[in-house]
Amino acid sequence: MTSSSRRYTIPGSDPARLVTSANPVGRRDFLRTGAAIASAAVSGVVGAAVPARAAESAAPWQKVPGTPAGAYGQPSEFEKSVTRHVIRAYPEIAPGVGSTLSPIQSFHGTITPSGLHFVRNHNGTPSIDPAQHRLLIHGLVKRPLMFTVAALSRYPTITRTYFIECAGNSGRNLAPQPQQISAGVLHGLISNTEWTGIPLSLLLEEAGLEPGAAWLLAEGADSASMSRSVPMEKALDDAMIALYQNGERLRPDQGYPVRLFLPGWEGNMNVKWLRRLKVTDGPTHTKDETSKYTDPLRDGKALQFTYEMGVKSVITQPSSGMKLDGYGFHEISGMAWSGAGRIRRVEVSTDGGTTWKDAALHGQQLSKSVVRFRFPWEWNGAPAVLQSRATDEKGNVQPARAVWLARYAVDARFHNNSIASWELGADGSVKNVYA
Ligand code: CO
Repeated sequence: MTSSSRRYTIPGSDPARLVTSANPVGRRDFLRTGAAIASAAVSGVVGAAVPARAAESAAPWQKVPGTPAGAYGQPSEFEKSVTRHVIRAYPEIAPGVGSTLSPIQSFHGTITPSGLHFVRNHNGTPSIDPAQHRLLIHGLVKRPLMFTVAALSRYPTITRTYFIECAGNSGRNLAPQPQQISAGVLHGLISNTEWTGIPLSLLLEEAGLEPGAAWLLAEGADSASMSRSVPMEKALDDAMIALYQNGERLRPDQGYPVRLFLPGWEGNMNVKWLRRLKVTDGPTHTKDETSKYTDPLRDGKALQFTYEMGVKSVITQPSSGMKLDGYGFHEISGMAWSGAGRIRRVEVSTDGGTTWKDAALHGQQLSKSVVRFRFPWEWNGAPAVLQSRATDEKGNVQPARAVWLARYAVDARFHNNSIASWELGADGSVKNVYA
């Protein structure tokens, strides 16, 4: 045995025996070796014992030349199961209406791969020729302006990492009974991306605002003419005309070639395929902000223009449908974000909210951006209810489910940022529960 292989041998276990989920005997041996080894597991030396002569035997793929690199990269063929969940609201009459949810239970960092970004479309993704597309700025401006995509691409750009979340995210967790579906199907209308574009304030300055300019109408070039009203204060603050995501041009599903981006605000406001910004003296009350995206309350009133997404977190590992493969060390991990700014704190409970402990925050902890939280945990085999609770820099705390339900009407569908719960059974299975 070489000295390098000895480094990875776990004392007290048979060196020929792999400690993997497929070999629970090996794992039990491993766990019996005590606290010193457990702390080694926490520090990352969890690997398998090395079989004798492992270093000398080549794997089959070492014996044949590999395939040449393709023109556009794809994930490993062994990751084919990591896909979005597609929901079509009216498959017969309007197949483009629906949502496509990110598989957040498979994500481990903070950035959402472009091909796994969630999609919410009101009548499908248009096929737009960027040479033909125009962005119009008109209304209460001194100089109405028309931009080609080529012209927009000449402006100075900024790059920021922001989450975007559909207002309807986690709406499925408002069903009367908890649904046994994955974390992504429950909570996957959230994605986190590096966006590059032009500060909207720059273009509005060039057009010149007239007195009384207080709102914008933002309209998309899809066949639903998706449109929303945007207060001028946001437009002049951190609003962006996005042209790129994760370094490449926007994906068609994300508004290619031009999308409005309003950091921290509900997904629907970030109008895709942006064709028009009309400066107005008040909100336009479009169909997309009157028939939808309003929030009925318990007292019979309804909230309109609820833009900012609330502070929120969800545990993605482990999560519903998964099964823990044994007692002992498990890292609890998930995503947290807030439309109000930075995430300051995420707490984790393993006893259904009776006690809470701080999780570690990873990633860059940017404003209006997803952070990854991680919490080391020794599972003793007893049933447990796992929860996470986020707090942002403004002091907003993610509400308990009962607190959220007491505020909104029974048919409310939007802005569910309440604490989610996973129940861990004695057999290691993880279920969605209401707690
Ligand atoms: Co809203």
